[in-house]
Amino acid sequence: MRTRVAIIGAGPAGLLLSRLLSLQGIENVVLENRSREYVEARIRAGILEQHTVDTLTDAGLGDRLHREGMEHHGIYLQYPGTRHKLDFPALCGRTVWVYGQTEVTKDLIKAQLDGGAPLLFEVSDVSPEDIDTDAPRVRFTDADGNRQVLECDVVAGTDGFHGVSRPLVTAGTQSRTWERTYPYAWLGILADVAPSTDELIYAWHPDGFALHSMRSPSVSRLYLQVDPHEKIEDWSDDRIWTALATRFALAGWQLQTGPITEKSVLPMRSFVSAPMRRGRLFLAGDAAHIVPPTGAKGLNLAVADVTLLGTALVRWLQEKQTDLVDSYSDRALARVWRCTHFSWFMTSMLHRSGDDFDAQLQLSQLRRVCSSEAAARELAENYTGLPLDT
Ligand code: FAD
Ligand code: DHB
Repeated sequence: MRTRVAIIGAGPAGLLLSRLLSLQGIENVVLENRSREYVEARIRAGILEQHTVDTLTDAGLGDRLHREGMEHHGIYLQYPGTRHKLDFPALCGRTVWVYGQTEVTKDLIKAQLDGGAPLLFEVSDVSPEDIDTDAPRVRFTDADGNRQVLECDVVAGTDGFHGVSRPLVTAGTQSRTWERTYPYAWLGILADVAPSTDELIYAWHPDGFALHSMRSPSVSRLYLQVDPHEKIEDWSDDRIWTALATRFALAGWQLQTGPITEKSVLPMRSFVSAPMRRGRLFLAGDAAHIVPPTGAKGLNLAVADVTLLGTALVRWLQEKQTDLVDSYSDRALARVWRCTHFSWFMTSMLHRSGDDFDAQLQLSQLRRVCSSEAAARELAENYTGLPLDT
Protein backbone atom coordinates (compact mmCIF):
# COMPACT_ATOMS: atom_id res chain seq x y z
CA MET A 1 0.00 0.00 0.00
CA ARG A 2 1.16 3.52 -0.71
CA THR A 3 -0.23 6.93 0.23
CA ARG A 4 1.12 10.42 0.78
CA VAL A 5 0.17 10.93 4.43
CA ALA A 6 -0.29 8.02 6.85
CA ILE A 7 -2.44 9.23 9.74
CA ILE A 8 -2.34 7.22 12.97
CA GLY A 9 -5.48 7.62 15.12
CA ALA A 10 -9.07 8.51 14.23
CA GLY A 11 -9.80 10.97 17.02
CA PRO A 12 -10.82 14.52 16.09
CA ALA A 13 -7.21 15.42 15.19
CA GLY A 14 -6.61 12.53 12.78
CA LEU A 15 -10.05 12.64 11.19
CA LEU A 16 -10.01 16.38 10.63
CA LEU A 17 -6.47 16.30 9.24
CA SER A 18 -7.58 13.62 6.79
CA ARG A 19 -10.52 15.78 5.74
CA LEU A 20 -8.41 18.92 5.29
CA LEU A 21 -5.83 17.04 3.20
CA SER A 22 -8.47 15.26 1.10
CA LEU A 23 -10.16 18.59 0.31
CA GLN A 24 -6.82 19.72 -1.15
CA GLY A 25 -6.44 16.52 -3.14
CA ILE A 26 -3.74 14.96 -0.96
CA GLU A 27 -4.07 11.20 -0.59
CA ASN A 28 -4.04 9.85 2.92
CA VAL A 29 -5.00 6.80 4.94
CA VAL A 30 -6.22 6.79 8.56
CA LEU A 31 -5.34 3.85 10.84
CA GLU A 32 -7.37 3.43 14.04
CA ASN A 33 -6.92 0.64 16.55
CA ARG A 34 -10.45 0.77 18.01
CA SER A 35 -13.80 -0.05 16.40
CA ARG A 36 -16.06 2.58 14.84
CA GLU A 37 -18.65 1.94 17.58
CA TYR A 38 -16.09 2.51 20.32
CA VAL A 39 -14.73 5.70 18.79
CA GLU A 40 -18.24 7.11 18.24
CA ALA A 41 -19.39 6.33 21.79
CA ARG A 42 -16.48 7.90 23.69
CA ILE A 43 -17.84 10.76 25.82
CA ARG A 44 -15.38 13.60 26.02
CA ALA A 45 -15.27 17.35 25.46
CA GLY A 46 -18.29 19.53 24.75
CA ILE A 47 -17.31 23.12 24.01
CA LEU A 48 -16.15 24.36 20.61
CA GLU A 49 -14.36 27.67 20.18
CA GLN A 50 -15.44 29.96 17.37
CA HIS A 51 -12.31 29.03 15.41
CA THR A 52 -13.13 25.33 15.72
CA VAL A 53 -16.69 25.92 14.50
CA ASP A 54 -15.38 27.98 11.57
CA THR A 55 -12.83 25.29 10.64
CA LEU A 56 -15.42 22.51 10.74
CA THR A 57 -17.90 24.63 8.77
CA ASP A 58 -15.31 25.53 6.10
CA ALA A 59 -14.48 21.82 5.82
CA GLY A 60 -18.15 21.10 4.96
CA LEU A 61 -18.91 19.63 8.40
CA GLY A 62 -21.15 22.37 9.75
CA ASP A 63 -24.67 21.22 8.83
CA ARG A 64 -25.63 19.24 11.93
CA LEU A 65 -23.41 21.41 14.13
CA HIS A 66 -25.39 24.51 13.14
CA ARG A 67 -28.72 22.66 13.42
CA GLU A 68 -28.17 20.88 16.74
CA GLY A 69 -25.29 22.78 18.37
CA MET A 70 -26.11 25.50 20.88
CA GLU A 71 -24.37 28.85 20.60
CA HIS A 72 -23.42 30.19 24.04
CA HIS A 73 -22.82 33.83 24.80
CA GLY A 74 -20.98 33.47 28.08
CA ILE A 75 -20.42 31.50 31.26
CA TYR A 76 -21.35 31.99 34.89
CA LEU A 77 -18.62 32.13 37.50
CA GLN A 78 -19.95 31.23 40.93
CA TYR A 79 -18.64 31.47 44.48
CA PRO A 80 -20.73 31.44 47.66
CA GLY A 81 -23.50 34.01 47.39
CA THR A 82 -22.57 35.15 43.85
CA ARG A 83 -23.26 33.89 40.33
CA HIS A 84 -21.81 36.32 37.81
CA LYS A 85 -22.24 36.13 34.04
CA LEU A 86 -19.32 36.90 31.76
CA ASP A 87 -20.85 38.21 28.54
CA PHE A 88 -18.47 37.03 25.80
CA PRO A 89 -19.79 39.07 22.84
CA ALA A 90 -19.62 42.25 24.95
CA LEU A 91 -16.15 41.41 26.26
CA CYS A 92 -14.45 40.10 23.13
CA GLY A 93 -16.96 39.86 20.26
CA ARG A 94 -16.89 36.05 20.12
CA THR A 95 -19.03 33.12 21.25
CA VAL A 96 -18.58 29.37 21.83
CA TRP A 97 -20.74 26.39 20.86
CA VAL A 98 -21.97 23.42 22.85
CA TYR A 99 -21.64 20.41 20.54
CA GLY A 100 -20.20 17.19 21.92
CA GLN A 101 -16.91 15.75 20.72
CA THR A 102 -18.89 12.55 20.14
CA GLU A 103 -21.02 14.39 17.58
CA VAL A 104 -17.99 16.02 15.92
CA THR A 105 -16.42 12.55 15.61
CA LYS A 106 -19.60 11.03 14.16
CA ASP A 107 -19.84 13.83 11.57
CA LEU A 108 -16.17 13.38 10.61
CA ILE A 109 -16.46 9.59 10.30
CA LYS A 110 -19.65 9.84 8.24
CA ALA A 111 -18.03 12.33 5.84
CA GLN A 112 -14.97 10.12 5.58
CA LEU A 113 -16.90 6.93 4.86
CA ASP A 114 -19.02 8.85 2.27
CA GLY A 115 -16.17 9.05 -0.21
CA GLY A 116 -13.31 10.41 1.91
CA ALA A 117 -9.89 8.85 2.37
CA PRO A 118 -9.60 5.21 3.52
CA LEU A 119 -10.26 4.81 7.24
CA LEU A 120 -9.25 1.44 8.68
CA PHE A 121 -10.68 0.53 12.08
CA GLU A 122 -9.46 -2.21 14.44
CA VAL A 123 -5.89 -2.30 13.17
CA SER A 124 -3.16 -3.36 15.60
CA ASP A 125 0.64 -3.40 16.06
CA VAL A 126 0.90 0.01 14.36
CA SER A 127 4.55 0.89 13.96
CA PRO A 128 6.01 3.92 12.10
CA GLU A 129 9.45 3.23 10.64
CA ASP A 130 12.30 5.14 8.98
CA ILE A 131 10.83 8.50 9.97
CA ASP A 132 14.27 10.12 9.70
CA THR A 133 14.46 9.21 6.00
CA ASP A 134 12.60 10.49 2.90
CA ALA A 135 10.70 7.23 2.66
CA PRO A 136 8.95 6.42 5.94
CA ARG A 137 6.38 3.66 6.29
CA VAL A 138 3.89 2.38 8.81
CA ARG A 139 3.55 -1.34 9.50
CA PHE A 140 0.32 -2.63 11.00
CA THR A 141 -1.96 -5.63 11.23
CA ASP A 142 -5.36 -5.11 9.61
CA ALA A 143 -8.72 -6.11 11.10
CA ASP A 144 -8.48 -9.52 9.36
CA GLY A 145 -5.13 -10.24 10.96
CA ASN A 146 -2.97 -9.60 7.85
CA ARG A 147 0.34 -7.78 8.25
CA GLN A 148 0.43 -4.65 6.04
CA VAL A 149 2.98 -2.02 5.06
CA LEU A 150 1.84 1.50 4.24
CA GLU A 151 4.56 3.42 2.36
CA CYS A 152 4.18 7.21 2.59
CA ASP A 153 5.83 10.64 2.41
CA VAL A 154 4.73 11.79 5.85
CA VAL A 155 3.39 10.19 9.04
CA ALA A 156 0.93 12.15 11.21
CA GLY A 157 0.91 10.98 14.83
CA THR A 158 -2.62 11.84 15.97
CA ASP A 159 -2.93 8.81 18.23
CA GLY A 160 -3.63 10.55 21.53
CA PHE A 161 -1.76 10.49 24.81
CA HIS A 162 -1.21 6.71 24.92
CA GLY A 163 -0.32 6.25 21.25
CA VAL A 164 2.84 4.93 19.62
CA SER A 165 3.95 8.17 17.90
CA ARG A 166 5.13 10.40 20.72
CA PRO A 167 7.70 7.92 22.14
CA LEU A 168 9.42 7.96 18.73
CA VAL A 169 9.67 11.75 18.82
CA THR A 170 10.77 11.96 22.46
CA ALA A 171 13.50 9.40 21.72
CA GLY A 172 15.08 12.12 19.52
CA THR A 173 17.99 13.96 21.10
CA GLN A 174 16.42 17.44 21.01
CA SER A 175 13.19 16.40 22.67
CA ARG A 176 11.87 17.50 26.04
CA THR A 177 8.69 17.11 28.03
CA TRP A 178 7.01 19.02 30.85
CA GLU A 179 4.35 17.62 33.14
CA ARG A 180 2.16 18.61 36.05
CA THR A 181 -0.21 16.21 37.74
CA TYR A 182 -2.96 17.91 39.73
CA PRO A 183 -4.16 16.51 43.06
CA TYR A 184 -7.75 16.57 41.73
CA ALA A 185 -9.95 14.55 39.42
CA TRP A 186 -13.36 15.17 37.88
CA LEU A 187 -16.31 12.90 38.37
CA GLY A 188 -18.35 13.48 35.20
CA ILE A 189 -21.95 12.47 34.58
CA LEU A 190 -24.38 12.58 31.68
CA ALA A 191 -28.02 12.84 32.75
CA ASP A 192 -31.32 12.77 30.92
CA VAL A 193 -32.57 16.04 32.31
CA ALA A 194 -32.94 19.51 30.82
CA PRO A 195 -30.07 21.80 31.84
CA SER A 196 -30.97 23.94 34.87
CA THR A 197 -29.09 26.86 33.37
CA ASP A 198 -28.87 28.80 30.11
CA GLU A 199 -25.05 29.12 30.23
CA LEU A 200 -22.39 26.86 31.79
CA ILE A 201 -21.75 27.39 35.51
CA TYR A 202 -18.19 27.13 36.88
CA ALA A 203 -18.63 27.00 40.66
CA TRP A 204 -16.07 27.42 43.43
CA HIS A 205 -17.29 25.86 46.68
CA PRO A 206 -15.64 24.94 50.01
CA ASP A 207 -16.41 21.26 49.20
CA GLY A 208 -14.72 21.52 45.79
CA PHE A 209 -15.31 22.69 42.23
CA ALA A 210 -18.45 21.85 40.24
CA LEU A 211 -19.31 22.49 36.58
CA HIS A 212 -22.77 22.48 35.04
CA SER A 213 -22.54 21.87 31.30
CA MET A 214 -24.91 20.32 28.80
CA ARG A 215 -25.11 18.41 25.54
CA SER A 216 -28.61 19.29 24.29
CA PRO A 217 -31.87 20.85 25.53
CA SER A 218 -32.66 17.51 27.22
CA VAL A 219 -29.22 16.21 28.26
CA SER A 220 -27.07 17.71 31.01
CA ARG A 221 -23.35 17.11 31.59
CA LEU A 222 -22.08 17.84 35.08
CA TYR A 223 -18.76 17.49 36.85
CA LEU A 224 -17.62 17.38 40.49
CA GLN A 225 -14.09 17.82 41.78
CA VAL A 226 -13.14 14.60 43.60
CA ASP A 227 -9.97 13.01 44.91
CA PRO A 228 -8.04 11.22 42.10
CA HIS A 229 -8.22 7.95 44.09
CA GLU A 230 -11.99 8.14 44.38
CA LYS A 231 -13.80 5.01 43.18
CA ILE A 232 -16.83 5.56 40.99
CA GLU A 233 -18.63 2.66 42.79
CA ASP A 234 -18.65 4.81 45.94
CA TRP A 235 -20.71 7.48 44.22
CA SER A 236 -24.37 6.55 44.09
CA ASP A 237 -26.61 8.72 41.92
CA ASP A 238 -28.11 10.21 45.09
CA ARG A 239 -24.70 11.10 46.48
CA ILE A 240 -23.76 12.78 43.18
CA TRP A 241 -26.94 14.86 42.95
CA THR A 242 -26.66 15.90 46.61
CA ALA A 243 -23.05 17.03 46.14
CA LEU A 244 -23.97 18.92 42.95
CA ALA A 245 -26.96 20.64 44.60
CA THR A 246 -24.75 21.70 47.53
CA ARG A 247 -21.98 23.11 45.37
CA PHE A 248 -24.31 24.98 42.96
CA ALA A 249 -26.67 26.22 45.71
CA LEU A 250 -27.93 29.76 45.17
CA ALA A 251 -30.99 31.50 46.60
CA GLY A 252 -33.95 31.29 44.21
CA TRP A 253 -32.35 28.67 41.94
CA GLN A 254 -32.77 24.92 41.85
CA LEU A 255 -30.84 22.09 40.23
CA GLN A 256 -33.11 19.71 38.31
CA THR A 257 -32.16 16.04 38.62
CA GLY A 258 -32.80 13.05 36.34
CA PRO A 259 -31.55 9.58 35.39
CA ILE A 260 -27.76 9.38 35.15
CA THR A 261 -26.77 7.53 31.97
CA GLU A 262 -22.97 7.64 32.27
CA LYS A 263 -20.47 8.35 35.02
CA SER A 264 -16.69 8.21 35.21
CA VAL A 265 -13.69 9.70 37.02
CA LEU A 266 -11.19 11.64 34.87
CA PRO A 267 -7.61 12.38 35.97
CA MET A 268 -6.22 15.89 35.45
CA ARG A 269 -2.78 16.69 34.14
CA SER A 270 -0.83 19.15 32.04
CA PHE A 271 1.75 17.67 29.67
CA VAL A 272 3.71 19.18 26.78
CA SER A 273 6.19 17.43 24.52
CA ALA A 274 8.48 19.45 22.23
CA PRO A 275 9.26 19.52 19.39
CA MET A 276 6.10 18.24 17.73
CA ARG A 277 8.10 16.75 14.89
CA ARG A 278 10.88 14.29 14.26
CA GLY A 279 11.95 13.94 10.63
CA ARG A 280 8.81 13.03 8.71
CA LEU A 281 6.70 12.22 11.76
CA PHE A 282 4.50 15.13 12.93
CA LEU A 283 2.53 15.08 16.19
CA ALA A 284 -0.82 16.81 16.68
CA GLY A 285 -3.45 16.91 19.43
CA ASP A 286 -3.26 14.82 22.61
CA ALA A 287 -0.32 12.88 21.16
CA ALA A 288 1.79 15.97 21.88
CA HIS A 289 0.03 17.65 24.81
CA ILE A 290 -2.64 17.27 27.47
CA VAL A 291 -4.42 20.02 29.37
CA PRO A 292 -6.67 19.63 32.42
CA PRO A 293 -10.28 19.97 31.23
CA THR A 294 -11.15 23.22 33.07
CA GLY A 295 -11.66 25.75 30.27
CA ALA A 296 -12.37 23.11 27.58
CA LYS A 297 -9.20 23.48 25.55
CA GLY A 298 -8.20 19.87 24.66
CA LEU A 299 -10.36 19.34 21.60
CA ASN A 300 -9.91 22.93 20.41
CA LEU A 301 -6.13 22.62 20.61
CA ALA A 302 -6.26 19.42 18.56
CA VAL A 303 -8.25 21.26 15.88
CA ALA A 304 -5.83 24.22 15.93
CA ASP A 305 -2.83 21.88 15.55
CA VAL A 306 -4.22 20.09 12.51
CA THR A 307 -5.32 23.36 10.93
CA LEU A 308 -1.69 24.49 11.02
CA LEU A 309 -0.36 21.06 10.06
CA GLY A 310 -2.80 20.58 7.19
CA THR A 311 -1.84 23.91 5.60
CA ALA A 312 1.86 23.17 6.13
CA LEU A 313 1.64 19.71 4.55
CA VAL A 314 -0.31 20.97 1.54
CA ARG A 315 2.36 23.61 0.93
CA TRP A 316 5.12 21.02 1.25
CA LEU A 317 3.61 18.17 -0.71
CA GLN A 318 2.02 20.28 -3.45
CA GLU A 319 4.24 23.34 -3.74
CA LYS A 320 7.50 21.78 -2.45
CA GLN A 321 7.92 24.67 0.02
CA THR A 322 9.20 23.59 3.44
CA ASP A 323 8.76 26.88 5.33
CA LEU A 324 5.46 25.98 7.00
CA VAL A 325 6.41 22.41 7.95
CA ASP A 326 9.64 23.78 9.38
CA SER A 327 7.81 26.34 11.51
CA TYR A 328 4.90 24.01 12.41
CA SER A 329 6.22 22.86 15.78
CA ASP A 330 7.12 26.35 17.05
CA ARG A 331 3.85 27.88 15.88
CA ALA A 332 1.75 25.08 17.35
CA LEU A 333 3.67 25.11 20.63
CA ALA A 334 3.16 28.84 21.15
CA ARG A 335 -0.57 28.23 21.18
CA VAL A 336 -0.19 25.02 23.21
CA TRP A 337 1.59 26.93 25.98
CA ARG A 338 -1.04 29.70 25.95
CA CYS A 339 -3.79 27.10 26.39
CA THR A 340 -1.70 25.21 28.94
CA HIS A 341 -1.44 28.40 30.95
CA PHE A 342 -5.16 29.18 30.63
CA SER A 343 -6.20 25.65 31.63
CA TRP A 344 -3.81 25.78 34.60
CA PHE A 345 -5.20 29.22 35.55
CA MET A 346 -8.83 28.05 35.43
CA THR A 347 -7.95 24.84 37.30
CA SER A 348 -5.97 26.73 39.97
CA MET A 349 -8.64 29.39 40.45
CA LEU A 350 -11.53 26.98 40.88
CA HIS A 351 -10.36 23.77 42.61
CA ARG A 352 -10.13 23.45 46.37
CA SER A 353 -6.66 22.43 47.50
CA GLY A 354 -7.70 22.15 51.15
CA ASP A 355 -5.42 25.06 52.08
CA ASP A 356 -7.23 28.14 53.44
CA PHE A 357 -4.61 30.58 52.16
CA ASP A 358 -5.13 29.18 48.63
CA ALA A 359 -8.88 29.59 49.11
CA GLN A 360 -8.55 33.30 49.95
CA LEU A 361 -6.38 33.87 46.87
CA GLN A 362 -8.91 32.04 44.69
CA LEU A 363 -11.82 34.08 46.03
CA SER A 364 -9.87 37.28 45.50
CA GLN A 365 -9.15 36.25 41.90
CA LEU A 366 -12.81 35.36 41.30
CA ARG A 367 -13.96 38.72 42.69
CA ARG A 368 -11.42 40.41 40.43
CA VAL A 369 -12.65 38.63 37.28
CA CYS A 370 -16.25 39.42 38.24
CA SER A 371 -15.61 43.12 38.88
CA SER A 372 -12.88 44.22 36.48
CA GLU A 373 -13.68 44.42 32.78
CA ALA A 374 -9.99 43.98 31.95
CA ALA A 375 -9.72 40.78 34.00
CA ALA A 376 -12.99 39.47 32.58
CA ARG A 377 -11.89 40.24 29.02
CA GLU A 378 -8.62 38.35 29.50
CA LEU A 379 -10.60 35.27 30.55
CA ALA A 380 -13.18 35.70 27.76
CA GLU A 381 -10.53 36.05 25.03
CA ASN A 382 -8.77 32.88 26.14
CA TYR A 383 -11.98 30.91 26.66
CA THR A 384 -13.48 31.73 23.28
CA GLY A 385 -10.15 31.09 21.54
CA LEU A 386 -7.27 33.30 20.48
CA PRO A 387 -6.13 33.69 16.87
CA LEU A 388 -4.38 30.66 15.35
CA ASP A 389 -0.89 32.12 15.66
CA THR A 390 -0.85 32.85 19.39
P1 FAD B 1 -7.90 11.30 20.79
O1 FAD B 1 -9.29 11.79 20.81
O2 FAD B 1 -7.37 10.61 22.00
O3 FAD B 1 -7.75 10.34 19.53
C1 FAD B 1 -6.64 9.50 19.36
C2 FAD B 1 -7.09 8.29 18.56
O4 FAD B 1 -5.97 7.46 18.31
C3 FAD B 1 -8.09 7.44 19.32
O5 FAD B 1 -9.18 7.16 18.49
C4 FAD B 1 -7.31 6.19 19.69
O6 FAD B 1 -8.14 5.04 19.77
C5 FAD B 1 -6.33 6.11 18.53
N1 FAD B 1 -5.11 5.38 18.84
C6 FAD B 1 -4.39 5.36 19.98
N2 FAD B 1 -3.31 4.59 19.85
C7 FAD B 1 -3.33 4.09 18.60
C8 FAD B 1 -2.49 3.22 17.88
N3 FAD B 1 -1.39 2.70 18.43
N4 FAD B 1 -2.82 2.92 16.61
C9 FAD B 1 -3.92 3.44 16.03
N5 FAD B 1 -4.76 4.28 16.67
C10 FAD B 1 -4.47 4.60 17.94
N6 FAD B 1 -11.31 18.06 26.66
C11 FAD B 1 -12.05 19.09 26.94
O7 FAD B 1 -11.78 20.16 26.43
N7 FAD B 1 -13.16 18.96 27.75
C12 FAD B 1 -13.52 17.76 28.29
O8 FAD B 1 -14.51 17.66 28.99
C13 FAD B 1 -12.73 16.67 28.04
N8 FAD B 1 -13.03 15.46 28.56
C14 FAD B 1 -12.21 14.41 28.30
C15 FAD B 1 -12.49 13.17 28.86
C16 FAD B 1 -11.62 12.10 28.65
C17 FAD B 1 -11.93 10.75 29.28
C18 FAD B 1 -10.47 12.29 27.85
C19 FAD B 1 -9.50 11.14 27.61
C20 FAD B 1 -10.22 13.52 27.28
C21 FAD B 1 -11.07 14.59 27.50
N9 FAD B 1 -10.83 15.83 26.94
C22 FAD B 1 -11.61 16.85 27.20
C23 FAD B 1 -9.73 16.05 26.02
C24 FAD B 1 -10.18 15.93 24.58
O9 FAD B 1 -11.16 14.95 24.46
C25 FAD B 1 -8.96 15.61 23.78
O10 FAD B 1 -8.08 16.72 23.87
C26 FAD B 1 -9.24 15.26 22.31
O11 FAD B 1 -9.88 14.02 22.23
C27 FAD B 1 -7.94 15.22 21.52
O12 FAD B 1 -8.15 14.66 20.26
P2 FAD B 1 -7.05 13.77 19.56
O13 FAD B 1 -7.61 13.40 18.24
O14 FAD B 1 -5.75 14.46 19.63
O15 FAD B 1 -6.88 12.49 20.50
C1 DHB C 1 -17.23 20.67 29.30
C2 DHB C 1 -15.98 20.31 29.67
C3 DHB C 1 -15.12 21.27 30.13
O1 DHB C 1 -13.88 20.94 30.48
C4 DHB C 1 -15.48 22.58 30.23
O2 DHB C 1 -14.60 23.48 30.72
C5 DHB C 1 -16.73 22.94 29.84
C6 DHB C 1 -17.62 21.98 29.38
C7 DHB C 1 -18.18 19.66 28.81
O3 DHB C 1 -17.80 18.47 28.76
O4 DHB C 1 -19.31 19.99 28.48
